[in-house]
Amino acid sequence: MDALVERLDRDEADGDVPFCVVAQVGSINVGAIDPLEAIADVCAARDIWFHADGACGAVGAILPEKRPQYAGLDRADSVTLDPHKWLSVPYECGCVLVRDPSAMARSFAMHASYLEGTERTPYEGLDYYELGPQMSRGFRALKVWMSLKHLGVEGYRSHLSRAVRCTEHLDARVRDADDFVALHEPNLYLYSFQYAPPDLRAAAAADANVREAVDDYLDALNRRIADEIQLSDVAFVMTTSIYDRTVLRLSVCSHRTTTDDIDQTFETLRDIGEREDATLRESFGVAV
Ligand SMILES: Cc1ncc(COP(=O)(O)O)c(C=O)c1O
Repeated sequence: MDALVERLDRDEADGDVPFCVVAQVGSINVGAIDPLEAIADVCAARDIWFHADGACGAVGAILPEKRPQYAGLDRADSVTLDPHKWLSVPYECGCVLVRDPSAMARSFAMHASYLEGTERTPYEGLDYYELGPQMSRGFRALKVWMSLKHLGVEGYRSHLSRAVRCTEHLDARVRDADDFVALHEPNLYLYSFQYAPPDLRAAAAADANVREAVDDYLDALNRRIADEIQLSDVAFVMTTSIYDRTVLRLSVCSHRTTTDDIDQTFETLRDIGEREDATLRESFGVAV
């Protein structure tokens, strides 16, 4: 929050006009949620549009145990969320909720004679093309509606809480292991961590000069592990960057993933890690 306020002050001092603050509601790497209430206060005091980027995480607000993290989300001027992520709706289906749709219409509504015909029709409903940049558009909302009708909010709650249990389970496995490193508390369905053989970790901790070489090696090793597991048909694990390190990232947003799948994925990552470490270490010139 200090950095945000300082940045806004600096922009104003420079003669710029800050008009929008975008908060994270579930970051892509670690599922972090910004302090939404405090951001809403800052935006209200300065008359700044408060947008909440909940592409990954906004729908987690339906879980009672996660609800406190979402305090202040209801004060956003707009919220984005991606049903194609945690709601398991088939690709692609993004969504934006706005408090005042007339603000969208002021930006995007267009009028052209070929759209109007000769007679006014009695239709007074919503014309989505007046609220966004796209005119010809498919009926994406149908798949969200049908999924919701099929599962109900309770059905979604059970899917979402199973995903949360999966990331918590993975975090527990990582913390129990001496060849993996936990990097953050698990939140929502996203979890990032690193494979790191214990002898290398010990060597890096003991000698600052060795540390950089070990870090570089672990980046390469984790990249190799992600490439391998993608080919294995067991799981699709990507890498990402946290604290400038290359790490493994799991996104448990399939409604079919269970803790058994997490165990299988974890064991496969370990097998690949051990195998790759045996060959890569030598070629990398990291000697411990
Ligand atoms: C936090 C966040 N915001 C925005 C986006 C972009 O969403 P989309 O790919 O649906 O345009 C993503 C996608 O991964 C995301 O994770």
